[in-house]
Amino acid sequence: MKILITGANGLLGCYLTKSLASLGEISPLSHDQMDITDRKAVFETIKQVRPDIIVHAAAITDVEKCEQVPEIAWSRNYLGTVNLVDVAALYGMRFVYISSTGCYGVGKKDKPYSEFDLVEPTTVHHKTKFEAEMVVSEHLSRYLIIRIGWLFGGSREHEKNFVWKRYLEAKDVNKVYSDPSQKGTPTYAGDVAHQLRVLLENDCNGLFNCVDVGAASRLDYVREILKAFGLDCEVAPAPGGMFNRIAPVATNESAVNVKLDMLGLSVMRPWREALAGYVNELMRGKGNA
Ligand SMILES: NC(=O)c1ccc[n+]([C@@H]2O[C@H](COP(=O)([O-])OP(=O)(O)OC[C@H]3O[C@@H](n4cnc5c(N)ncnc54)[C@H](OP(=O)(O)O)[C@@H]3O)[C@@H](O)[C@H]2O)c1
Repeated sequence: MKILITGANGLLGCYLTKSLASLGEISPLSHDQMDITDRKAVFETIKQVRPDIIVHAAAITDVEKCEQVPEIAWSRNYLGTVNLVDVAALYGMRFVYISSTGCYGVGKKDKPYSEFDLVEPTTVHHKTKFEAEMVVSEHLSRYLIIRIGWLFGGSREHEKNFVWKRYLEAKDVNKVYSDPSQKGTPTYAGDVAHQLRVLLENDCNGLFNCVDVGAASRLDYVREILKAFGLDCEVAPAPGGMFNRIAPVATNESAVNVKLDMLGLSVMRPWREALAGYVNELMRGKGNA
């Protein structure tokens, strides 16, 4: 079996490349190797590789930039997905789309979202992610849409390493600030990659939340990160206005894996356990899947 992965150099892509290797031959493609917004390049590359499965993890993930320049968000998140879906439909390929629990948006819910909740995205980024989901579900019959949470993982050097950045920020000071109002589900990228392998092995189809277990505010999350590193640094609630954002990100992005649990297929771990294991790896100088 051949599996093509887009966004293979990204935070999640690195873990997908390693975890899915046991299923067959992997073609991990970086932005440089195939720009998903270039329709001709997408058709030519995929015709050449002829994968059985396309795992689409490429996206623009800068939520603030998406709000400022919606054209980029639409082009990379929506149009790029359209190109890949069209080629997958042409050749009858199975398709995996990586989406976000941020798509649930405003809602009226204080509790974690399940797959059965309505989706009302509030930001340009999440609107384009959701529009892309619709393209996948409306044009393909063999697909997985995976909504993931606040992702952590990667090497120390990875520019999107939230956990390592918090460590660097706190290691030489007595106090840092974090947002107590923003709620989500911290999720280890390695767990997502493992879960996707299980879903593919079981020939599952459709939409799944795929988050580690439990919810947290940003403040809880940062406290747990610093605790895992053994740092004696206070994490105080950020005063209003300290983390002003351009994008109107929903205050609750936390989720539960109702469908995975119903099928008895969940391998997702409590987020605190996953975080402690990952911090341990980072401290030993590792940090990749
Ligand atoms: N990180 C999170 O907390 C989070 C939460 C929910 C959902 N997700 C979703 O999870 C997936 C993976 O995210 P991630 O955290 O791994 O993000 P990431 O580290 O930013 O990786 C995304 C990758 O996509 C590539 N890319 C961007 N535009 C492209 C284009 N036009 N053509 C080809 N490749 C392109 C990027 O390459 P360049 O850097 O070279 O542009 C990057 O390597 C995304 O679909 C994201 O929406 C992430």
